[in-house]
Amino acid sequence: MKSPSDDLRRKPVSDLRPEDAAVELERLAGEISQHDRAYYQQDAPVISDADYDALRQRNEEIEARFPKLVRADSPSKRLGAAPAAGFAKVVHAVPMLSLANAFTEEDVADFLDRVRRFLNLKDGEAVDVLAEPKIDGLSITARYEKGRFVLGATRGDGREGENVTANLATLDDLPRQLSGPVPDVLEVRGEVYMAKSDFLALNERQAAAGGKVFANPRNAAAGSLRQKDPAITRARPLRVFFYAWGEVSERTWETQSDFNKSLKAWGFQINTLGTLCRSLPEIMDFYRGMEGRRAGLDYDIDGIVYKVNRIDWQERLGQVSRAPRWATAHKFAAQKATTVLERITIQVGRTGTLTPVANLTPVTVGGVMVARATLHNEDYIRDKDIREGDTVVIQRAGDVIPQVLEVVAEKRPAGAQPFAMPETCPECGSLAIREAGEAARRCTGGLICPAQAVERLKHFVSRDAFDIEGLGAKNIETFWAEGWLTSPADIFDADGLAAKLQGREGWKEKSIDNLRNAIRARTTIGLDRFIYALGIRQVGQATARLLARTYGSFQAFKAAMTEAAADREGEAYARLIDIDQIGPAVADDLLGFFAEEHNRKVVADLEARLTIQDMEAADLESPVAGKTVVFTGTLETMGRSEAKAQAERLGAKVAGSVSKNTDYLVAGPGAGSKLKKAEELGVKVLTEEEWQALVG
Ligand code: IVH
Repeated sequence: MKSPSDDLRRKPVSDLRPEDAAVELERLAGEISQHDRAYYQQDAPVISDADYDALRQRNEEIEARFPKLVRADSPSKRLGAAPAAGFAKVVHAVPMLSLANAFTEEDVADFLDRVRRFLNLKDGEAVDVLAEPKIDGLSITARYEKGRFVLGATRGDGREGENVTANLATLDDLPRQLSGPVPDVLEVRGEVYMAKSDFLALNERQAAAGGKVFANPRNAAAGSLRQKDPAITRARPLRVFFYAWGEVSERTWETQSDFNKSLKAWGFQINTLGTLCRSLPEIMDFYRGMEGRRAGLDYDIDGIVYKVNRIDWQERLGQVSRAPRWATAHKFAAQKATTVLERITIQVGRTGTLTPVANLTPVTVGGVMVARATLHNEDYIRDKDIREGDTVVIQRAGDVIPQVLEVVAEKRPAGAQPFAMPETCPECGSLAIREAGEAARRCTGGLICPAQAVERLKHFVSRDAFDIEGLGAKNIETFWAEGWLTSPADIFDADGLAAKLQGREGWKEKSIDNLRNAIRARTTIGLDRFIYALGIRQVGQATARLLARTYGSFQAFKAAMTEAAADREGEAYARLIDIDQIGPAVADDLLGFFAEEHNRKVVADLEARLTIQDMEAADLESPVAGKTVVFTGTLETMGRSEAKAQAERLGAKVAGSVSKNTDYLVAGPGAGSKLKKAEELGVKVLTEEEWQALVG
């Protein structure tokens, strides 16, 4: 049956009366922001891009005709399509980390080995690990001062989240006042979730009332917590398990399991299934047991988290990138589904890699709609003999992109042909070649290839690179399609860009101003971010940081790359591949990048517009900041990786071999050729003990 509002939403804008227009603008504001959330926060769009654009366009048209009716919450007032946050930002006193993943028993064994090696443990010395269900919800942090709840925030990007104090305060599971002795400042972290039974009941109520029906308990929990009106949150059945801490004025616990006891005593909910395991077999027993019980639990879990129980060990282990070395998440096996592979298309990435993509008859896998899956590369397709028209088994593992696992051979339609990978780039027609020893075929078009150019621009403005507020992937695509941006340097013509946006649909004076300011704010950038932003193959954040620390300034970096490219026998090249973790393969990509004329031009244009800040030594107070250190022989008190991590934390560069640039050689028992070389070159040699005394 058709409702009156169905008629209204179809009415041409020119036929709308003002009262109709007001109703329509309200509906559109609500619908568009729902889609924005689905797209940007839940990664689960429910309508096509074209339908979404049509909604926005109708909104703009009505506003143009009835300017007095423009709403305060109009989608046209939001920069691009990103949702207006609505919550104040909170910078976390201690960053909220994420976890590295393990998928197999071997991965778990590797995790334990790494811990043992890092800590340099003797055989026979056991590592106690606390194994806990990994709750599939959204992580939050709650701050208590003198036992009173004062601040609650979402994880956000780990560094900065949203202030949801009022919403969290509505949760029955969140104590407002703690009992017993408690540190003056205590920040506890946990997972807000919705029980499966509550989720089903909520969806029934929502459906009956014509409200939003959620795809799964996680989305329901996220949507319920991030409400502008805490009264709505209060009406939703949210719960929370606590499992970690952030800033604390005093740590009164020695182990993770003691901490859980304290949590309980203070009045927090903890998950009681956590178990202390002393060996890999014990860990795997727990894992398999939980996998069996998973379906029967009233809350979703997506794996098991293992945490080194001793806190002093956790502290020594520290973190790498955004994840602690002392914990890992062992994911449960992926959820699978069967569907039809309708077509294979080719996607061209930032570095020109051609990736075959399976376009599927949409199917839900573990509550999420999947319409595309990766096919990795041509060998993968050939080995599994995947053809268009085949019925295929797909799987989704955690947040990993869905993949095609296998073909259901009996269901192959007659006449299905083996897939042939194109030998030219589908985007620009340039030759796509596959180099010996590589699985990927790559477009040789460089920046004349539109796909590469636009992907590179997206990378350039992404969060860990230039991170320009209001200039996300969507806007990059639009601006690129308009021909306003062709190279990264174009972004910094903020005034030119602003002029072009004048009068554009969806852009108001204010949003244009915001964008201009956001761009200007980024014309000064740290060297490490800058190197990362260039999008050089194999140069991720960690490598960019290493390079920045090693060379200190962009001038020095560029000069070294040029010199190294000119003479691979020379000192600059030797110094480059001597940087720990940079081998000849990464060096090839770096030098290859600087060898290309168009890349040198991009770099020069950027240098002309930007201030690239030199890299400060990590810790200027430290006596080893800026020094180059080599470790050799057996280290007694710590593992090799711990020694390296410690040195890097203090601002030193760790190299793999001794040269005249080496400041210190730390030599343990069994040191051989490096020690000899150091002595020849007059490099200062330290025992492990002397090194420890030096770094304090
Ligand atoms: S510990 C330093 N324990 O998993 C790491 N995390 O994928 C602190 N999570 O961001 C996290 N259950 O949101 C920990 N028992 C548990 C957890 C858990 C769920 C979430 C948490 C974290 C994410 C990492």
